[in-house]
Amino acid sequence: MKQLMLKPTIYKYDTCKEFADEFHIEKGDLVITNEYIYEPFFGKMDLECDVIFQEKYGAGEPSDDMAEAIYKDIKGEHKRIIAIGGGTVIDISKLFALKYVSPILDLYDGKLPIEKDKELVLVPTTCGTGSEVTNIAILALNSRGTKKGLAVDEMYGDSAVLIPELLKGLPFRFFATSSIDALVHAVESSLSPKGNEYTRMFGYKAIDMILHGYMEIREKGPEARIPLLDRFLVASNYAGIAFGNAGCAAVHALSYPLGATYHVAHGESNYAMFTGVMKNYMEIRQDGEIAKLNAFIADILGCDVENVYESLEDLLNILIPKKALHEYGVTEQDLVEFTDSVMTNQGRLMANNFVELDRDRVYKIYKELF
Ligand SMILES: [Fe+2]
Repeated sequence: MKQLMLKPTIYKYDTCKEFADEFHIEKGDLVITNEYIYEPFFGKMDLECDVIFQEKYGAGEPSDDMAEAIYKDIKGEHKRIIAIGGGTVIDISKLFALKYVSPILDLYDGKLPIEKDKELVLVPTTCGTGSEVTNIAILALNSRGTKKGLAVDEMYGDSAVLIPELLKGLPFRFFATSSIDALVHAVESSLSPKGNEYTRMFGYKAIDMILHGYMEIREKGPEARIPLLDRFLVASNYAGIAFGNAGCAAVHALSYPLGATYHVAHGESNYAMFTGVMKNYMEIRQDGEIAKLNAFIADILGCDVENVYESLEDLLNILIPKKALHEYGVTEQDLVEFTDSVMTNQGRLMANNFVELDRDRVYKIYKELF
């Protein structure tokens, strides 16, 4: 049984200048990024590469329309795709490393041959998605009103490059939502039946780093995150290695309808579901990996294991206050539709649940969080 796949070579640099020099960014490279990242960090280097700014093709979560529009604008031959950005930029850029990309709906339906065509360099600018070390690109398929992940090994980056300097301008809110996403990756993959001692080594370490970081921020205030950004970036990367192998599960599955319908940021919609899912796991089964995980978290937080989720929520509420679903505009009727959507569309994730969650249970979780 496969234990751990880690394709990209991982690099770390103190500055963008060191990265640009060592990677010899030049003609023949296509950089996909955002203007607010490129200009301050790379603008003065006068690089001869082509540059595309993703935000010119729409805001928010990545979609098939956005990817299609960017693909149409790519001119000339490139040997390397260099993605510098958050989850949207990185997920979309992974597609462009393939030889056959368009129509993107056909690609996602498995109708196009999958062939790697270009070298791929992935540089994250948030501390959450871990997408720089996974082979998955998740897009909203606008014409179908759903989100779908394409996971093929040809979309692994050749290089994943960590540059803590890039996170310095990340506003507190994005720091909070992205790092909570990383925490959820680490927890879900550690509880996944596909988890093993390799993936849990990365997952548990990520949990430890993230929670200790949050405790320092609780003690010293939001600015205390700045010297910790390096650790959060590495923790997010560890969590990416963990979930890239062991998968995410119900927290992500239940958060997708909320995120898609009410445009709630990915990390925030995960947080809205997080402890609700955990408590329901515990109602079904209290031993095994969840017992180990709860004891591990309680030890970090310095609380009794019985109160672990309450203490965890107290800590996370410092970053973003947890909201009830109705505060996002969710209606009782939505709960039924969300449940249907999870049971119909999120089988890939629901297969990784710690214990099986059936339709009644999914509805119950939503209802409790309402
Ligand atoms: Fe996530």
